[in-house]
Amino acid sequence: MSVLTLTLNGAPVAVPAGSSLLEACRAAGVDLPTLCHLDGLSPVGACRLCLVELEGSGRPVAACVSEAAEGMVVNTDTPELRLHRRMAVELFFAEGNHLCAICVANGSCELQDVAVAVGMDHSRFPYLHPPRPVDASHPLYSLDHNRCILCTRCLRACDELEGAHVWDVAERGSHCRIVAGLDQPWGEVEACTSCGQCVDACPTGALFHRDDTPGARRVDRGRAALLHHARQGQGWRNQGEAPP
Ligand code: FES
Repeated sequence: MSVLTLTLNGAPVAVPAGSSLLEACRAAGVDLPTLCHLDGLSPVGACRLCLVELEGSGRPVAACVSEAAEGMVVNTDTPELRLHRRMAVELFFAEGNHLCAICVANGSCELQDVAVAVGMDHSRFPYLHPPRPVDASHPLYSLDHNRCILCTRCLRACDELEGAHVWDVAERGSHCRIVAGLDQPWGEVEACTSCGQCVDACPTGALFHRDDTPGARRVDRGRAALLHHARQGQGWRNQGEAPP
């Protein structure tokens, strides 16, 4: 295995060739906020929270979808990046209907966690309050479009772990939304195996167990996390878990 050396926030870091900049940051103990990234799923670079600055590059890049290269000089904590991250989180809150007090994920929500991490105590942007439905047609789970941040973790978990491809993204811009099957009620989609991996992968309260009450969401990253450990060579059996 060949090893690359780069400079991260002024300190040298050695990582295996093929590592992403996000993996390099984690290897060096540098905490980067992420939302669309989930270990074990393919990276897509959708949320733009993990932006870092590369010396010699005119614009920041998403660390989760950028491969580390020999000699790179990377900064993860500059005033511009802090400003950008806070603004991105503010826009997430302003664009949807994230009423935490009545959300099943209150207290176990990754959007809440990054808001705290970037120091967001309010949004400077007007709240749009879009009228969005809740799909409660599935016998076990529900989808609240009001909480969805379009990270597509559900879509990738269904696709890459279960192979069912129940979820897709429809329409564009502010009308963009997650759809089940051919834009059907979730409960009518025959391809759904009711495995719940989309629910486990959701970072917010958009996908939840039907019987969850506010603040009751069970956090379990499920097979995505197990698959990641397996790929990392740590082995699920070392952790007393069944193989994915
Ligand atoms: S975690 Fe990198 S863009 Fe979302």
